[in-house]
Amino acid sequence: MESKEAVVSVDDLERALNIADLEALAAEALPRLAYDYYRSGSHDELTLRENAAAFGRLKLRYRVMVDVSRRDLSTRALGAAIAAPLIVAPTAFHRMACPEGELATARAAGAEGSIMILSTLSNTAVEAVVEAATGPVWFQLYIYRDRAATRALVQRAEAAGVEALVLTVDAPLLGTRERDVRNRFHLPEGLRVENMTAAGMGRLEERAGESGLAAYVAELLDPALTWADLEWLASISRLPVIVKGIVRGDDAARAVDHGAAGVVVSNHGGRQLDTSVATIDALPEVVEALSDRVVGAGQRPLILLDGGVRRGTDVLKAVALGASAVLVGRPVLWGLAVAGEQGARRALQILRGELDLAMALAGAPRVEDITADLVVR
Ligand code: FNR
Ligand code: LAC
Repeated sequence: MESKEAVVSVDDLERALNIADLEALAAEALPRLAYDYYRSGSHDELTLRENAAAFGRLKLRYRVMVDVSRRDLSTRALGAAIAAPLIVAPTAFHRMACPEGELATARAAGAEGSIMILSTLSNTAVEAVVEAATGPVWFQLYIYRDRAATRALVQRAEAAGVEALVLTVDAPLLGTRERDVRNRFHLPEGLRVENMTAAGMGRLEERAGESGLAAYVAELLDPALTWADLEWLASISRLPVIVKGIVRGDDAARAVDHGAAGVVVSNHGGRQLDTSVATIDALPEVVEALSDRVVGAGQRPLILLDGGVRRGTDVLKAVALGASAVLVGRPVLWGLAVAGEQGARRALQILRGELDLAMALAGAPRVEDITADLVVR
């Protein structure tokens, strides 16, 4: 892969005031193949834009005359203490962003008091990522047609020490990202789907007229999944299972009824079904549908959200409407592309700093003060 590492310096990193600045720097630093893959949504990219636009449409009814001299952004997710309601979303192929790849991401997440969700489709094996991590790692699972290989992968992740499984359910086939078709997206020389090399499914090669990833998914992942497969997964692992890719209340209830410990309200960052509902607009019905559910020992199901979180006020709105935390995908990739571990940390720091200010200005000094009445709907 061509390298453009010298283009961006540490000074640039410090000058990146916001996530958009980081993306602009990443666009300079990355080869076209990688930048297009990370940035793209499917088809007309309406959902990609709508995720962010929907946050902008929600207005805040801030409170005044609250003592906000001290703020506490800390919270919990599945028992893990986190420094802020920010979690690193599972995204594939971090070694296209920087040489250290997922090792850099894991260190950055730990240093910022966050959780890393490692993709099945990582360029670094789960064992090495957990070994390098300084905080909790959760494992995002794609279920392959080959169930023995899938089971082996789950067992490896569990043995490595991941603390939860995140089953992605919105990708029975890959959405069409047209730039990836035009670019004939594939993994650059030397990079593989490391978790699947042992099973002989580690290569992702160039194909004429299509995205190599779309072909990989169509050939190897199982498009026949139903709720019974969630029960199967829950039965083969002791780990809590979170279902990712839910945008409906009825599906959220089914997920919990079939053994999930929680859900991620997500449309895959606008990369799957284009014109899907924005996640922040879908969140209230999911919260409502799960309001009477309990999981395990009287716990409430965990509700997370991702898609289009680019400002601290976006995090505030998601938490106000009932999410325990948000996942961030592309912002972390932009940081990695600009400056590896330091850059990924910078992405999380920017969002955390903006959330801290938003909490002060909204009169909500603690996460539990971020209540639904802060948002006009
Ligand atoms: C993703 N996402 C994703 N999700 C998943 O479950 N497994 C995966 O391997 C990937 N890979 C992936 C790659 C890239 C480049 C992107 C941008 C996204 C989806 C991801 O977890 C998350 O849902 C979205 O990225 C959230 O949206 P934002 O924060 O990127 O807007
Ligand atoms: C993607 C897959 C890998 O969105 O989840 O590219």
